[in-house]
Amino acid sequence: MSDPNPLLQPPALDERIASLKRRLNRVYGVPASEAHVVVSPYRICPLGAHVDHQLGRVTGMALDQAIVLVFAAAPDAAPRTVRARSRNFPVETRFDLDTIPPKRPGDWGNYLRGAAAALKQRFGERFQRGMVGIIDGTMPIGGLSSSAAVGVAYLLALETVNGLKAGAADNIHLNRFIENHYIGLNNGILDQTIILAARRGRLLALDCQAEQWQVLDGPAPGSFEILVVHSGVEQSLVATGYNQRVAECRDAACQLLAAAGQTDHADAVLRDVPETVFHEHVAALPAASAKRATHFFGEQARVREGVAAWTRANLKRFGELMTASGRSSIENYECGSPPLISLYELLISAPGVLGARFSGAGFRGNCIALIEPGRAGAIAEIVRAGYTRRHPVEAKAFAAVVCGTDDGARLL
Ligand code: GLA
Repeated sequence: MSDPNPLLQPPALDERIASLKRRLNRVYGVPASEAHVVVSPYRICPLGAHVDHQLGRVTGMALDQAIVLVFAAAPDAAPRTVRARSRNFPVETRFDLDTIPPKRPGDWGNYLRGAAAALKQRFGERFQRGMVGIIDGTMPIGGLSSSAAVGVAYLLALETVNGLKAGAADNIHLNRFIENHYIGLNNGILDQTIILAARRGRLLALDCQAEQWQVLDGPAPGSFEILVVHSGVEQSLVATGYNQRVAECRDAACQLLAAAGQTDHADAVLRDVPETVFHEHVAALPAASAKRATHFFGEQARVREGVAAWTRANLKRFGELMTASGRSSIENYECGSPPLISLYELLISAPGVLGARFSGAGFRGNCIALIEPGRAGAIAEIVRAGYTRRHPVEAKAFAAVVCGTDDGARLL
């Protein structure tokens, strides 16, 4: 017998904050009146997948589900200590700002240590105060960028207790330091830019080369919902093929520029390749390089068309482009695991779905769908039934959440 309601209902933000404050008081003795709060949303990228690390153009929105961190400055008795607990993981993270330990495989505290390391190299002696904090998240992990959401939350918290001023551009680079240097994931600036700069109901369009973005008005409020569907597959991105794909894109860029007679292409990314060069030389590339480059240039065209469709409030076309983006991720970028591909196929054939794709890198975690309002329960039921038939083991951890959009990360 199937559960009549396949949709998860995460707890309300106010309740979460109140409960985190109680826990901060119990564990670290901080009165609720002295606790600060950061709300750092999960993000989706409807169009522009796997192109940020090649300095392409991308789009994004923040969800109305968020990581919440409740925190206070470290006590005077231990001013340089950082201590935090997570509702989602058992062990406390604790370290001293003078000796920030290196990354530990699979440890949730990596992003907190990485944030401290980023601020230390950026602000030196001005970064001197530790903190205590309790963090939690509501969404199943994978593809919604909980990593960048926690990274941004820790950065904002540590900046607050140190009185450090950092704007969005600064925090984008600080978060990049956490991911690229501390964690070792060669990703781009898509995640943290959306998390920091998104606006409710609007589409953020980011040029990763210029590092400039706009937030665009589009469809009327309430004209769509976002359904997040979890595959039950969880695993760290560093352990997936993510960095390998990034290297393959760079190889493709070098090969295309070399074919066009350029000699200086050692650090090239696909954004450096003129589209005419791609069309002229793609047929001569090895198969994998040709596919990665085809994904990049196809995705750039979809972002261009999708931004235009969004501003004309044409959700139907925007959704079709999302689905085409998902298809290219599977066929050209060759990412995604069989469970994720099944979820994508099931979603795009469900009535009420305007478009769907993997969320994030696509090796694990969630798929997202742009849906007509009020259809989430029925869609989730159809997808769960099909997924249970195809992947009975993973389907035990199937979860679906219907979301709206929200503003970017903020201190309350
Ligand atoms: C992950 C990375 C991002 C981006 C997406 C795919 O979320 O962190 O930088 O590359 O995958 O678009």
